[in-house]
Amino acid sequence: MITDADIEKILNDPQVLKVTDNVNEEMLERRQYKPRICNAFSKAYTHLESTDDFQFDIDPESKRQLHNIIHNKVQRIKGSDSPSDSLKSQYEKARNIGIVFSGGPAPGGHNVIAGLYDAAKKANPRNKVFGFLMGPDGIMENEAVELNDTMIDSYRNIGGFTMIKTGRSKIDNDKKMALSRETCKELKLDALVVVGGDDSNTNAAFLAQEMFHDKVQVIGVPKTIDGDIQVRDNKGHVLCAISFGFHSAARAFAGSISNLCTDGSSDIKYWHICKVMGRVASHLALEVAFQTHANMTFIGEDLANYTDPKRLEKPREQGATDYTAYGMTLRHLSRVICDGIVRRSAVGKNYGVIVIPEGVLEFINEIQVFIIKLNTIIAMYNRTHDTRFHSDFPALEDKMEYLRKFERQNRESGGIAVWNSRDMDLFNDLPDFFKDGLLTERDSHGNFQFSLVETDKIVMGLVKNYLKELTEKGVYKVGIHRDYYKKILKKAGLDPDFYGQILFKNYGEEYLLVKPAIISGKTLTQALVKGGAIGENGNIPPAVEKIYKKSVPGFNTQLHFYGYDGRGSNPTRFDCTYTYNLGLTVFSLIANGATGLMASVKNLELPFEQWEPIGIPIAPLMHLEERGGKLSLVIEKSIVDVNSVAFKVVKALREKWLTAAPGDDNYRHPGPIRLCEQGEEDRPIILTLNALGRK
Ligand code: FBP
Repeated sequence: MITDADIEKILNDPQVLKVTDNVNEEMLERRQYKPRICNAFSKAYTHLESTDDFQFDIDPESKRQLHNIIHNKVQRIKGSDSPSDSLKSQYEKARNIGIVFSGGPAPGGHNVIAGLYDAAKKANPRNKVFGFLMGPDGIMENEAVELNDTMIDSYRNIGGFTMIKTGRSKIDNDKKMALSRETCKELKLDALVVVGGDDSNTNAAFLAQEMFHDKVQVIGVPKTIDGDIQVRDNKGHVLCAISFGFHSAARAFAGSISNLCTDGSSDIKYWHICKVMGRVASHLALEVAFQTHANMTFIGEDLANYTDPKRLEKPREQGATDYTAYGMTLRHLSRVICDGIVRRSAVGKNYGVIVIPEGVLEFINEIQVFIIKLNTIIAMYNRTHDTRFHSDFPALEDKMEYLRKFERQNRESGGIAVWNSRDMDLFNDLPDFFKDGLLTERDSHGNFQFSLVETDKIVMGLVKNYLKELTEKGVYKVGIHRDYYKKILKKAGLDPDFYGQILFKNYGEEYLLVKPAIISGKTLTQALVKGGAIGENGNIPPAVEKIYKKSVPGFNTQLHFYGYDGRGSNPTRFDCTYTYNLGLTVFSLIANGATGLMASVKNLELPFEQWEPIGIPIAPLMHLEERGGKLSLVIEKSIVDVNSVAFKVVKALREKWLTAAPGDDNYRHPGPIRLCEQGEEDRPIILTLNALGRK
């Protein structure tokens, strides 16, 4: 028996200490990995070269609200070993720099800080870098920590935002702005770095404007696994091909999903339904499709682009247009999924893997309308009350009661209503969990929180219902391989050719499909009697029954959500390198006096030697958009371009990856995320493909 004293001894054994340590060899190796640096940063100093090569269509409102930073131009970062005296003294000046993470974590964030810290300390060891704790709240509440070598070294190349945490607050009113200014003053900050998504970089632009005269420089960094920060100028030149974290998250999701492909095609009894993060845009789902070749991947932007020719045809004869023909309905989407399931099943593959982007509902007409209407109603309520909609109406029934009252008032006042009785009726028809999902609290930016909605459950509910219908109609069957069928019948001393004509609609083909009319023991008996195989009161031969039973499909699903796991994964070599260079870029922009710019690395799709660090002006990227019920200036989110090479390639390979044909599936295994220089895929596949479109 092992005593407490034994355990004490075991716990102090060097081998036990090693295997139970929080830090394993993989982590040590990661921390020591040194990402390559762009050529400009191999010099002792850098300077900025302003360029007119890139132009933007500027929104007049952006000009009005961001007048001090609207004329910023794209800056190329150049290295120099022998700078002028003035550049040298400006570059080497002692500085205090604050950095904050804003929004969801994305692999590589720690390397942005490491790059900034290394460059700052190299320029002047007296430079200080402060990390604001828990996101923008840390700025407003002056919760900051001065970063040191130990902290930085423990987090090099490590995923998450653990070092200083993150948060989703927004500095979006005068009071919050004043608090932020106060903190910058207290910490004597020369510069503030905001690492965040589109909304956070929008915030960075407003902070840059606000603190322009205080001489606090503000620099943004494009972060988000969603990949929806992609910047082009008005001629389509790509300045930022993808936000950091995208590649790592996509690789992490793809790793797990490809394992499901392996399990699914071994066990052959489940359809795995994988919802993947990405908020509205389907970039992550698209990359996952390339990485895994899952049987079906739906791209929201493609569904919105769909037109139903049949619904257009009839009204066109009368000179009218049926606008409901544009865009896919939830019902239609479920039909498309069923079609794939039925076709695979016909060749014996009643299993597979389906990838659904979490934001797919945004692209489904009828749902998008609900999201917009409910966003407006909730925002109106929050604007006109001291309390908030979600705290006043915590339960679904309370919210429904409010909607009913709202609809009644609208009806009685007789004006154009944002919520009418038709909306109420349609909404009532939805299952409760879906209603609840559509009414969830919006985030601090007024965005609908797709990750909280069980999109997969909604879609698969419809799929299950329709498959039931198709089973009853005898359309959904499992194809039986003819060799197997023959073997079973011969073993039972029955003539396969004789029974084959009675049982199957395609006897002779490789996969045999039981006739649609045969959907039960009763109908099977009738067919056998009619075919002369048995008498009126005869029994079904066991071998025939066995074959029939194998043809009856069971539709078994496993639902999976890939999001937070990939967001917290370690960065790929691509993201480690990209983010470390972003950090170096941030320092160059600061040391050269820039503000209101977003750090970026151009040419990410090309070999590393051609990567080019740049600064992109944020203000010209902004336009007016409805947020929280009112028009606000924001950076436009980039969604999947259905005319891009990447999308067209996926579309062209759809049928192949569905593999509704005899033979093996076409799955692809991306492998683990590693840092070695050789063997690892080095950049998102969509980047490589889309670059082909620009040649
Ligand atoms: P960011 O836009 O802040 O990078 O976050 C992206 C994301 O991971 C989305 O993919 C997802 O819809 C959302 O955050 C989830 O938000 P939360 O972390 O609040 O649950």
